[in-house]
Amino acid sequence: MTNIMNSKAFTEARKKAEEKVKELNLTEKIGQLSQFGTSIYTSEEKYFEDHFAEGKIGAYLTIIGAEKTNKVQKDLVDASRLHIPALFGDDVIHGFNTTFPTPLAQSCSWNPEVVRRGCEVAAKEAYRSGIKWTFSPMVDIARDPRWGRVVEGYGEDTYLCSRMSEAAVKGYQGEGETLEKDHVFACMKHFIGYGAAIGGRDYNSAEISDQHLHDVYLPPFAAGIEAGAATVMTAFEDINGTPATANKYILKDILRDELGFEGMVVSDAGATSELTHHGFAENEDDAAIKAFNAGCDMSMQLMGDYYNHGLPVGINEGRVSIEDIDESVTRVLTLKYLCGIMDDPYTDESISNEAFSDDHMKATYDAAIECAVLLENDGILPVRNAKRIALIGALAGDEGKRNLLGPWAAHIDPEKTVTVEEGFRKALGESTEIVYSYGCSVADDGDENDDNTIAEAVKVALECDTVVCVVGETAGRSGEASSYANIHLPGNQEKLIDALVATGKKIILLVSSGRPVIMTNFNKKVSALMQVWQMGSMAGQAIADLVLGKVNPSGHLTLSHPRSEGQIPIYYNHYNTGRPLYKTDRWKTCYRDLESSPLYPFGYGLSYTSFEYSDIKLSATEMAEDGEIEVSLNVKNTGDCDGAAVVQMYIRDLVGCRVRPVKELKGFAKVWLKAGEEQKVTLRLPASSLAFHDFYMNKIVEPGKFKLWIAESATDNRYEFDFIVK
Ligand code: NOJ
Repeated sequence: MTNIMNSKAFTEARKKAEEKVKELNLTEKIGQLSQFGTSIYTSEEKYFEDHFAEGKIGAYLTIIGAEKTNKVQKDLVDASRLHIPALFGDDVIHGFNTTFPTPLAQSCSWNPEVVRRGCEVAAKEAYRSGIKWTFSPMVDIARDPRWGRVVEGYGEDTYLCSRMSEAAVKGYQGEGETLEKDHVFACMKHFIGYGAAIGGRDYNSAEISDQHLHDVYLPPFAAGIEAGAATVMTAFEDINGTPATANKYILKDILRDELGFEGMVVSDAGATSELTHHGFAENEDDAAIKAFNAGCDMSMQLMGDYYNHGLPVGINEGRVSIEDIDESVTRVLTLKYLCGIMDDPYTDESISNEAFSDDHMKATYDAAIECAVLLENDGILPVRNAKRIALIGALAGDEGKRNLLGPWAAHIDPEKTVTVEEGFRKALGESTEIVYSYGCSVADDGDENDDNTIAEAVKVALECDTVVCVVGETAGRSGEASSYANIHLPGNQEKLIDALVATGKKIILLVSSGRPVIMTNFNKKVSALMQVWQMGSMAGQAIADLVLGKVNPSGHLTLSHPRSEGQIPIYYNHYNTGRPLYKTDRWKTCYRDLESSPLYPFGYGLSYTSFEYSDIKLSATEMAEDGEIEVSLNVKNTGDCDGAAVVQMYIRDLVGCRVRPVKELKGFAKVWLKAGEEQKVTLRLPASSLAFHDFYMNKIVEPGKFKLWIAESATDNRYEFDFIVK
């Protein structure tokens, strides 16, 4: 497929860039490789005007707004000798102004269109605010919910993450041959292995075998690059002892040579200078030289002048080659030509970016209703004919305005967030009384007034026929630098749940969090349990409509929910051991004090309706190493309301030259069906998708026996089939 990175437009842009590079002096060249600005974590904003005349700025980060970026751009263009504009980048992670569900929540939709559309809307708002480049999507496979950044990715599975990765790139960049109006360059991050931080501690080292790196961590990047991603960001961590930002093996041998990436590599913020902290570089100049030589084209930094200072030193010492500098500058300029700023560096200030427009709010609502995952339901949901609803929880009220947006929501307007309370009031009008009660604080340490507010909530619950309680995490509890060893509900929220349960009322519990929290203490005590994540600007409306059955939950988990922190990391596609077992048995692979299965497995999610799979057929039970099998089935909605089935196809390679995972997702389809409706679904299984890396790092499709399951979750073994690769 043609995309912006393999198009005629790209070749032309690259040609122009190659010519332009010849006009630049060394300082100007290195300037193109430096990105400055601010971060969402600080209010301090600097433009580095003293760098303009010499052309020492190539890009900015997190300087936003059409007017502001135009002003800075004009000052830079006017002051510099060659008038080369800067590329303005920003962390547009799940929306720009209009906020979408977090990426983890979006992945639970199992609908790549949700991701594509969210990125498309975000791109439009960002583009019209002066931004041409987003630092997204994050496609790090993450299997440790203690790591706060699980919220930014698409879950634990390589196949699902790869599909979301290509959808995100298409949404941000569009599907044309050049970067058109209202689109921004995507940045695949963090290359690579950042999600494997040992112990789930952010920025921590990762130890990943080459096989695992290629089979598990690389494919989502490969998929995004295949879809045309223009840039890649390095990771903070060291991987097998070499920091990712100065790792020639991953940045050149893998990214360039294996994946054929032609775009630009940027460091994570300050990651070049952090090479000194790793003990990998003697000083900041040495760090700049090592990162650049390893393949990091551009240094992102908030304040430092790492490349501007270090690379000339490298040239003088004969450690950096001018040819390499020229190549990196060419890559940067190619993107500048490709997005049109070399011809017109300014953003049209007269057009609205449509933040919070009806169209954009509808887009985020449409996304949100597909992201919630129904985990338990004794039949209480959907709520019908309630007369008096107790709506309990800090996150259901005004505190939800900011927190339901999740982390990495920087240019937001919390006032635009529809809270859960507002959502319920809008959905029910005057017909039902809603009594709101705060419940307790969601802060880590709770609040000294919690006992009183819990007592009040109990009183309210007793006076109502329906009790809906929202618990969870604040927006700041996940995201960067938010790893936690304890991922139970913060503060006194479990106490609140217990107090509500003790009333004898049936409790509908909604969990709004950035990560899976430990639910073992309460999941079976409540009548219904829904994981509603942090679903963005329309979260409250979506939540009300889901609870009231105006829409049917259709999300399925993309991260296994652990029973306790002691089980982490826990993921469905682990290897089999010599002593496999999921239950507690001393001499097997287990804990003696805890069942080995997750509380809720990958792929799991309930609906208000039920589905029946029938007539499941494999087009063949044998295929060649370059062959393909088609799996077809009929899916029927057997309940009495409309809903969506998420059909999942797993395989297992029974005997391999390397131990194979017990299950691997290889296909899925989300099918919307009216009550009683039946549809035929076909899933493709090309033999190439069964490939893995052997001990010697050959990528092979190994002949042998396989199992195949069509399933509703990773632990659903009802429909099992055999096939052979010859
Ligand atoms: C650090 C984060 O790791 C990265 O994801 C982000 O894009 C940069 N900071 C810029 O804010």
